[in-house]
Amino acid sequence: MSFLSLSKVSYTYPLEEKEAVHNLSFEFEKGKVYGILGANEAGKTTMCHIIRGFIPSFYKGKLEGDIRLKNKQLDEYKEGELASIIGYSFQNPFTQISGVKETVYEEIAYGMENLGFPRQEMIAKVEELIDLFKLADLQDKNPFELSGGQKQRVALASIVALNPEIIILDEPTSQLDPQSTEEIFSVIDLLKHQGKTVILVEHKVDLLAEYCDEIILMADGEIVLSGDVKSVLSNPEVLKHGGQLPQVTRFFLEAMAQEKLKKEKRLPLTLDEAYAKLREEVK
Ligand SMILES: Nc1ncnc2c1ncn2[C@@H]1O[C@H](COP(=O)(O)OP(=O)(O)OP(=O)(O)O)[C@@H](O)[C@H]1O
Ligand SMILES: [Mg+2]
Repeated sequence: MSFLSLSKVSYTYPLEEKEAVHNLSFEFEKGKVYGILGANEAGKTTMCHIIRGFIPSFYKGKLEGDIRLKNKQLDEYKEGELASIIGYSFQNPFTQISGVKETVYEEIAYGMENLGFPRQEMIAKVEELIDLFKLADLQDKNPFELSGGQKQRVALASIVALNPEIIILDEPTSQLDPQSTEEIFSVIDLLKHQGKTVILVEHKVDLLAEYCDEIILMADGEIVLSGDVKSVLSNPEVLKHGGQLPQVTRFFLEAMAQEKLKKEKRLPLTLDEAYAKLREEVK
């Protein structure tokens, strides 16, 4: 039984003529981290909205094809049910803040409160998350006073609080500095180890190379390449479709083009892999 699958999914926004995504087919497995790559307007956010069910319930428009989650059609799920299975962090972190809570602490508890979690459990969970997301200094602040990056961290903490099986993160590090970005990725790794399925739209390929199991590359509304991280991110075709390759991989491709290294199909994606490869070469 497939966990989550798209089959021949196409979608046109209301009043638009052109399809925003076309003929998407993909099988997501439980417990893997998927990196979604692609240029601006490639359809990444639209695909995420479809998986979460915002399309067509919120955006309307014309949706075709078949979407199944745990062997049930997506449109058979009630909105509340879907919200508890799939956590969603929006591309714009300003959309994510509830607007009804006065402190970061209460904001993180907000979702649990709505679902009627017992008070003690809620407090324990909020404290654990404040620690995990390094939010202690911010816990008494008003969420609206936070910077974009701080809002992104609070948004992610609020999602993790509800313990969803699938977590969709649409560019969760776009407003973060390199250190906070690494911290978000280590949380993603932790979620993977808890068995969560993570769908991550992200442009930072060096980090995708390190943390993802699979990559989906989108261009002009279609999935143009997909597969395990090693095969996709060492494929120079990625560049032709508006995607990036890891720095290490680009270096090896260049060295091979200049015949400084012998040609190989499997290229290193991370520094650790590059060191291992070079050690082999000098043996
Ligand atoms: N609400 C909307 N109404 C009409 N067209 C839309 C809407 N949102 C997106 N589109 C169009 O759908 C296509 C895919 O956009 P989408 O936002 O999914 O791309 P993306 O890959 O997430 O881009 P970005 O990197 O800029 O976030 C684009 O042509 C875009 O103009
Ligand atoms: Mg987007």
